[in-house]
Amino acid sequence: MNLNGLPYVIEPMQLRDVAEVMEIERLSFPSPWSARAYRYELQENNLSHYLVARPQRPLTQKEPGFGDGPRRERLIERLRRSLGMTAPPGVNILGYGGFWLMAGEAHISTIAVRPEWRRHGIGELLLVAMLELAVELGGDLATLEVRVSNVAAQSLYQKYGFAKMGLRPHYYSDRGEDALIMTTKHLTSAAFQSAFQRLKAELRQKLVERFASQPQGVLDSPSTTP
Ligand SMILES: CC(C)(COP(=O)(O)OP(=O)(O)OC[C@H]1O[C@@H](n2cnc3c(N)ncnc32)[C@H](O)[C@@H]1OP(=O)(O)O)[C@@H](O)C(=O)NCCC(=O)NCCS
Repeated sequence: MNLNGLPYVIEPMQLRDVAEVMEIERLSFPSPWSARAYRYELQENNLSHYLVARPQRPLTQKEPGFGDGPRRERLIERLRRSLGMTAPPGVNILGYGGFWLMAGEAHISTIAVRPEWRRHGIGELLLVAMLELAVELGGDLATLEVRVSNVAAQSLYQKYGFAKMGLRPHYYSDRGEDALIMTTKHLTSAAFQSAFQRLKAELRQKLVERFASQPQGVLDSPSTTP
């Protein structure tokens, strides 16, 4: 999808992203994956493909007590260096998602958005990017498991043509909750592609309009209800 003019960029997840991904992971899932699991996915699992959504420019968090302007930035930077923090400061990752590609099937393993950034189209953008990448790599089906109680995620998947195909009873060990198995039609079929192209155009339009309608840019108001 053409991301020109949009407030977000989508990039491959890097090892240096894992700490920030873990922040979102812990806020998003009752049984978060470990940092080690993410490092394994990035370094050793040849089947895996992970993406992150970033703001176009890094956002600085509002650390109190530093005043404003360049002096504040210098003080934060000095403090970060003295603490041995090497990743760029502030919020750099708004969400992430990943899939394993096996025998033409893209198994979406995770997707999550920073809680205060939800309902801004980022989850949808990540799903679009994963489906596009899966097709580019030769995938022809996408499938996933989702908690039966996770209405938000199911609604996102349904929007993109995932249909309920079965149930895995007690799949989630933390609460013994069942998982729905949801799967797309053939990703390269005319039926899927025509709906997919329409949804992508609508998403792009929505993001462009939202970005343009806020003089300071959508990035400065993460908690604004869309
Ligand atoms: C699921 C999740 C990734 C969606 O991300 P998001 O950025 O908030 O979603 P978007 O703003 O892109 O919304 C896209 C579509 O998802 C659906 N959706 C998202 N949040 C929803 C909600 N709270 N209720 C109902 N539908 C919702 C809608 O269909 C929406 O389309 P619309 O804007 O045309 O109504 C996000 O809620 C999340 O991180 N949840 C916690 C982690 C998780 O449960 N991951 C799924 C594991 S299977």
